[in-house]
Amino acid sequence: MSLRKQISMTLLVLSTTLPAAWGADVQLRIFAGGANQRPDLIRSLLDDFERKNPGIKVQVETGGATSELQRQYLGTVLGARDSSIDAFVLDVVNPAQFAAAGWLEPLDAHLGADKANTLSRYLPAYASANSIGGKVVALPYTADALFLYYRKDLLDKYKLPVPKTWAELTETARKVQQGEKSANLQGLSFQGAPIEGAVCTFLLPYWSEGKELTDREGRLTLDQAAAVRGLKGWLNQVDQGVTRRNVAEIKTGDTVNEFKAGQALFALNWGFAWDRLQSDADSAVKGKVGVAVLPSVAGGKSVSCIGGWQWGVSAFSRHKAETVKLVRYLTDKQVSRTLAVEGGILPVFPEIYKDPEVLRKAPWFSFAGEVVETARARPVHARYSEVSDALRTGTSAALARSVTPEQAVADIAGRLRRIFR
Ligand code: GLC
Repeated sequence: MSLRKQISMTLLVLSTTLPAAWGADVQLRIFAGGANQRPDLIRSLLDDFERKNPGIKVQVETGGATSELQRQYLGTVLGARDSSIDAFVLDVVNPAQFAAAGWLEPLDAHLGADKANTLSRYLPAYASANSIGGKVVALPYTADALFLYYRKDLLDKYKLPVPKTWAELTETARKVQQGEKSANLQGLSFQGAPIEGAVCTFLLPYWSEGKELTDREGRLTLDQAAAVRGLKGWLNQVDQGVTRRNVAEIKTGDTVNEFKAGQALFALNWGFAWDRLQSDADSAVKGKVGVAVLPSVAGGKSVSCIGGWQWGVSAFSRHKAETVKLVRYLTDKQVSRTLAVEGGILPVFPEIYKDPEVLRKAPWFSFAGEVVETARARPVHARYSEVSDALRTGTSAALARSVTPEQAVADIAGRLRRIFR
């Protein structure tokens, strides 16, 4: 080793060990996601963690309005082996890719004898989503699934039941829209922008028909005709005047805003939306929000798309022990319960769905646990960002009518075949 290298190595070691030796605080920095991940709820949790762990301070960074933007951002930071972020939230679709890239610190050795016990407490889908190649690569933080949100007051007014199929939803929406005579009332708001959520927009009707995107071995089994039918089903909502023509621009947050403003009878959205619709100061629909399982295609079954967020420890963190401590705290039952009570955020622990205080705050959790447990997973793949890109841009292009559904699906099939080869 050259002298210069030796000096810089010594400086590096000193700079990472001295503060602790001098009794200075270890400063951690975490990435807590965008508004949909509710980083607003995190500071008081971190204050509690800091009180219980003197000598560790935690700084929060937020950003990235949508999941794929956050994936891109973290990809840039971690791809550069940047050590400035110690821990980060990651979408349930990301552990496989992040682990394959070597960006996640495996937690097995840190958990030690606690490993089996720690994992067995979570809903099984999340325990397995975070176990990649036999290693624990992240820990579950929040659960999620897509639900049907509806205006209770309007369905009551017209004495209409919550629809069980998408065709029934169209009919119901048209009746209410005609009755209300308001050009502003959209029948159904859903996500057609080329965001991560549009992967689920693509998959919902396809899964509802009983079709699979991959087999058990992870081989591609795309049924193109079924996928075309799925996209045509969504376009039909636009043609019927139920969904607005700009659906190919609509992101998750837009659906929240449209519904909050009283401009949508039905909405397809994730669990976090409930609290926003019920509690945001600017919500015009407080007390009028119903939540139900998703409709199915005719003759099919109701299927949801599983979502949720995990905490991972960066492989490049210079404070692994402290960061693991923090991540274990953030993924513990007490935090999951607090998020459920304060933010209506779906818990990753099964028993919290039955907790009386939680149910008082969010009565729909009584059936939400089952929806989460039976929801389907987007494909697990080391090249997930490309899988996602193919599905969401193809879906959005079809909804924008810049290509036909047949062209969109042929395009998706071609791109997926190259990834899954
Ligand atoms: C929600 C889900 C996440 C999903 C995202 C898509 O945040 O929890 O899994 O990918 O929405 O918009």
